[in-house]
Amino acid sequence: MRKKLPIEPLTRDEVFQKLREYSIDDADPLSGRLFTIAFETGLDELKKVAYDAFKMFMDKNMLDFTEFPSAIRMEKDIVDIAASLMHGDGDVVGTYTFGGTESVFLAVKAARDKFILDKGFITIPEIVMPITAHPCYDKAAEYMGLKVKRVKIDTETYRADVDSINEALTENTAMIVGSAPNWPFGTIDPISELAEIALEKNVWLHVDACVGGFILPFMKKLGENIPEFDFRIEGVSSISLDPHKYAYSLIGASVILFRKEFYKMFSQYVNLKWPGYPIVNPAVLSSRSEGPLAATWAVLHMLGEKGYLELAKKIITTRNKVSSKLRDIGYKIMGDPTVIIAFTSDNINLFRLSDYMIRRGWYFLAQKGVPEMGVPPSIHLTITPIHEKLVDEMLKDLEEGTSELLKIPPTDVEGLVESLGLIMSLVTPEEIDIPMLSKLLKEAEKLLEIYGPKLLEAFNLDKGLPKEMALINQVFNSLPPAITELLVNYIVIQLFKKGV
Ligand SMILES: Cc1ncc(COP(=O)(O)O)c(C=O)c1O
Repeated sequence: MRKKLPIEPLTRDEVFQKLREYSIDDADPLSGRLFTIAFETGLDELKKVAYDAFKMFMDKNMLDFTEFPSAIRMEKDIVDIAASLMHGDGDVVGTYTFGGTESVFLAVKAARDKFILDKGFITIPEIVMPITAHPCYDKAAEYMGLKVKRVKIDTETYRADVDSINEALTENTAMIVGSAPNWPFGTIDPISELAEIALEKNVWLHVDACVGGFILPFMKKLGENIPEFDFRIEGVSSISLDPHKYAYSLIGASVILFRKEFYKMFSQYVNLKWPGYPIVNPAVLSSRSEGPLAATWAVLHMLGEKGYLELAKKIITTRNKVSSKLRDIGYKIMGDPTVIIAFTSDNINLFRLSDYMIRRGWYFLAQKGVPEMGVPPSIHLTITPIHEKLVDEMLKDLEEGTSELLKIPPTDVEGLVESLGLIMSLVTPEEIDIPMLSKLLKEAEKLLEIYGPKLLEAFNLDKGLPKEMALINQVFNSLPPAITELLVNYIVIQLFKKGV
């Protein structure tokens, strides 16, 4: 039923009662039981300071930094700190954004515009990147009219395969992406080697250090074997790094750094054509609360280098404990983990393992893999300092779950989905061109109108969010992405329309 604005105002108590009811099924990010999405230290005082700083500035708008000069002051400090962590020289400049995706959008826009201006004519610019790069590059490309070539990785190390990247480059390549580390496996791409190609071919190299930018420098100081990935490498044009990940700020915090001021000019948006106020947007969004900016300034200064080193130590200890247990109970660790551990298995259904752990109150991230490129399904664990306290309890549950699941054979439905996937990938072309997409969408509109509600029923989505995700993950793994993307698109519209 469509909700209407209440005629009678609710009281404060009623408002909070309702909001508590709405959040009843939420995972608790501060519990230490989430091994994905939440980046928590477990330091109550730090959290409190972040909340207070957020509250102090939340009504101020970064849109007009002349009215609120605090925005310039705080942003300058945060960008300077990020640039010094990334060993940027005096030419490096940057912008504070509300997330990794927004930072990446600015990098892609700058690379695209520089490419077109260097060429002097319009063509469709391309981004070449390993399959492990985050989908925000595909998203930026879709929004800004570029094309993405995702290439295979080295399936021994789970790092970018430099030869495959090199082979995919053409005269239309505007950007190469490498990650430090990538999200699925936590491995660091060979940035120095990618930079050599970028320099030789005069292509923009973006280093995605959204995850690693605020943690890898500290791990290296503690003696971890972290390869170079920052501005010390000639050929790195831009780097993104997110304080709302391993700087432990509140959500809404990322930084994009450019090697040169001139590069940043391609990323900003300026408009003086209309009769209103001058638009000068360093980032994608226009109106933005200063709250996350202030929270970020606060946590960076509250922790300082000593604080980040202490927290990095906790991560290293926990990661080593988890990796060694995983090996002991028969899982295969994928590549060299940093702050993220990914593991796979030949005899355990990992999608069921993820459901099992959720039943025990632990949030793991099931990953579908890319079977046609030799990347099997896996489980991803983001390790953060808060996990140090609960890791033994989690590993005990994981061990028990593993022995239980070893006894359960695959279900008929899982087998059926796998065979169906095999057939569909044979008949679905790898690249879908515009005429084919247009035909597909017309058919899909008709079919979803007829079969859509049945589809929701089949996945138990007609009554809200499902408790078990194993079958859905199996579908993602087995069916071609072009088909599953369409289905998920439809399903999510229904979820938000109907509510849960
Ligand atoms: C490597 C990497 N890059 C970019 C992003 C996008 O960041 P955000 O979710 O803050 O937009 C993520 C998110 O997990 C990521 O892991």
